[in-house]
Amino acid sequence: MALLEVDKVSKRFGGLQALNGVSFSVERGEILGIIGPNGAGKTTLFGVISGFTPPSSGDVRFDGRRIVGVSPDRLTRRGLIRSFQIVQTFAEMTALDVVTTAALTRRPIRQAVDYAAQVLTRVGLGSKLDDTPATLSLQDKKLLELAKCVATDPQCILLDEVMAGLTMAETEAPIAIIRELNRQGVTFVMVEHVMPVIMRLATRMVVINFGEKIAEASPDEIINDRRVIDAYFGEHLDA
Ligand SMILES: Nc1ncnc2c1ncn2[C@@H]1O[C@H](COP(=O)(O)OP(=O)(O)O)[C@@H](O)[C@H]1O
Ligand SMILES: [Mg+2]
Repeated sequence: MALLEVDKVSKRFGGLQALNGVSFSVERGEILGIIGPNGAGKTTLFGVISGFTPPSSGDVRFDGRRIVGVSPDRLTRRGLIRSFQIVQTFAEMTALDVVTTAALTRRPIRQAVDYAAQVLTRVGLGSKLDDTPATLSLQDKKLLELAKCVATDPQCILLDEVMAGLTMAETEAPIAIIRELNRQGVTFVMVEHVMPVIMRLATRMVVINFGEKIAEASPDEIINDRRVIDAYFGEHLDA
């Protein structure tokens, strides 16, 4: 049985059909890549899966159970967590506070603090426990977002453009962390614009355009798919 099943999900915002009958499933241990142009509906899709955005119609199942209408908080406890595209933090909290809050999902406070420090060290932020997120570099903000997810001990992490804005060299650290977590059994669904990154990580790809799934295939097949090239890469690739 698939870990995550998205079944004919549609979402309408007023007159805008942000998602239209999107279906796909994610097997345990996979890294599913989701690509598509800006405004295609990728973040909306993550909102629906993670319980932040109620769908207009359709179903989502996680670990064998329907999850539409289940709060993000409960989904986190069931092992489904998402990162946010825009790094959101409270000004007065330190990196350790932020990750401790996530670690409280499954641990009492004293253990949560220790575990948060371990997770931060694991992502390479061990020397920045007391820094406030606002003072961190973009790369470190992204690593912090990853640490927040990891500290909840998830089965499945939804990553929304964690590599956006990073240089190719800066993507190496998050790539290594994602690979390592995946080896330990964590399933990933990644929305990513940085094609060389998603091509390296994804076991399978789904392409969304104007709220619809237009392709689903291996990374190699995807880059040779005319519809994908037209929709996603645009004319600059033809040149
Ligand atoms: N809360 C909202 N209210 C109204 N329109 C929205 C809302 N969220 C997203 N949209 C619209 O839905 C479409 C899909 O947006 P989004 O899911 O953010 O796309 P992507 O992440 O693929 O760039 C866009 O046209 C966007 O403006
Ligand atoms: Mg988005």
